[in-house]
This record gives sequence, C-alpha cells and structure tokens, in this order.
Amino acid sequence: MSGRPRVFVTREIPAEGLDAIRAACDTDLWEGELPPPRDELLRRVAGVDGLLALLTDRVDDELLDAAGPGLRVVSNYAVGFDNVDVPACTRRGIAVGNTPGVLTETTADLAWTLLMAAARRVAEADHYVRDGRWLTWGPLTLLGPDVHGSTLGIVGFGRIGQAVARRAQGFGMRVLYHDTKRLPPAVEEETRATFTPLDDLLARSDFVSLHVTLTAETRHLIDARALARMRPSAVLVNTSRGPVVDTDALVTALRDATIWAAALDVTDPEPLPVGHPLVALDNCLVVPHIASASLPTRGKMAAMAAANLLAGVRGERLPTAVNPEVHEPPA
Ligand code: DGY
Repeated sequence: MSGRPRVFVTREIPAEGLDAIRAACDTDLWEGELPPPRDELLRRVAGVDGLLALLTDRVDDELLDAAGPGLRVVSNYAVGFDNVDVPACTRRGIAVGNTPGVLTETTADLAWTLLMAAARRVAEADHYVRDGRWLTWGPLTLLGPDVHGSTLGIVGFGRIGQAVARRAQGFGMRVLYHDTKRLPPAVEEETRATFTPLDDLLARSDFVSLHVTLTAETRHLIDARALARMRPSAVLVNTSRGPVVDTDALVTALRDATIWAAALDVTDPEPLPVGHPLVALDNCLVVPHIASASLPTRGKMAAMAAANLLAGVRGERLPTAVNPEVHEPPA
C-alpha cells in the first residue's frame, strides 16, 4: 500500500494530464486503442478512489457498485457527460467533472469544416480525383450551394453554438438560433443571431447545425417530421451527439433527396458499422467524432480532466464540476 490514491484511467490521454495523474496517484491505465470491455472496466474500477472516464465508458449504478464505496470522483474526458448517470453519482456523494470551455472554438471550427465540406462536396471531389475521374474542367461538375450570404440555423445556442454563429459573420450569413430559452440581448447582438422557433428555423435555413446536449428531450429532436420541414437544398451538420438525429429518418431523407446533404461528426450508432447505409450515400459526409481533436485542445482537456480527478481524490471541489452540490452540506 503506497498511501497514494488509486485511480483507473480508461484510455491513454495526452501527457498534459496523464503525467500529473501518474505523479500523484497509483495509476492503472488501460492501454488498448479500443475502450476496455465492460467486464474489464468493472473489474478494474474495484476499489479505486478516482476514475477518469471517456465518453465511450458507461458510468452507471452497476459500475459504481463495482467500484465500491471508496470512489470519490468520476472525471469525464469530454464536455458532454451523457455517458455518466450523474444523479446516481450524486446520490452516492461522488463528484463528476467534465471539460467545458477549452474545446468550444475547436469544435466550432470543425462544425464549419463540415458545413463547408458538405456544401462544396470536398470529400466527393477528392474521391473523384483519386479515382481517376478528373478528365477535364466541367461546367456541371460537383456543383453545390453557396455558403456566403446564406442562412444558418443553429439549434442549441450555448458556448459552441455561439462560437459557430460568430464565424458566420465573415460569410455574410443570416443567423437564426433556437434554444430552450431566448438568450440575453447582448448575446444576440454580439452573435447577430435571431431567436426563432425550431420549425421556423428548419424551414428557413440553408444550413442547420446542431449544438444541443443529449437529453431525453433532445433524443431524436431531428426526426422524420423535423427533416421534412427542412429545405430540399438544406445541409444538416451534427457535431453534438448522434442520437439527437433519428438515423433511419436521416437515411431516408438523404436517399429521397428531401434534404441536400448531411455532415456528421457524431452518429447513432457510434461508431457506424462497416456497410452502414449512411456511409454508402454520396450526400453524407461522416468523420469519426473528431470535433475536439486538435493537439492543443486535447492537451487542455487532459489537463482539465486531470485537475478534476486530482481534486476529487483529495476530497476538494472540482475545478469544473457537473454536480457541485455533492460538496454542499445536506439541507
Ligand atoms: C465532448 O467533449 O463532449 C466531445 O464530444 C469530445 O470532445
């Protein structure tokens, strides 16, 4: 027994976080490229003081039971925490941390990358060249909609949605946004975005970009009905969570060309199995959940996740806590 806290880290994270964890804790690191299988995860958490989890690890009552009463903190290496049963953690007095803020701009960059790439058919064009089909300049080759001067609809107007809106100013776009509530006038003014009911936003936007968190209310927010509201020329961009979109309905809409294209960083299921219908569609661009995948951002996420983990094992308040109430004295 070293007297140091015991922690399990479910995947290798950048050194900006891992080094600090190793320096302070007895660290069990899952070194596989794939997530630990469920039975291995349950085995490895037994008796730990802290868990650094990824969005691919389900943290629920079963896992918390397997960990036992010593578990003080679950530090999620992501801003999203739909993989963590937060109420279950709170009931047991376990602090939960996430990594907000540091990935906002990087995620907004990727939402724009997808928007532009889908509009201008960049992936298709690249395949066209590599497949040896580029035989001449063609007046009708690989045409797509204009981005500049078009209308962007942003669903979910938190930090990332607002960062996406700011970028639209450079393209002279009209920006509509929808959220559960209207944002203060100062935010609307700075982002030049107009609060719009969802149905209206879907009907008026050339590009619809999703930035909601995944909850029971937002699961399949974009279903067959919502897709039918969108323009036949519209592009759907999803960098939030896969289940926000009803995948079957999206496949149908893309196949029937009732919307023009989709560009997805996240999918349901995730990862997409080989041969999935979305991957067979030319008007669907899919990348493997890489919105935060810049070197500096992943390093900052690691540092933040480590700071949460270390604070938690010491019984201190987490720098970025999802359930800060665990530190409040009971009422
Ligand atoms: C998150 O942080 O929630 C992203 O999906 C991965 O960085």
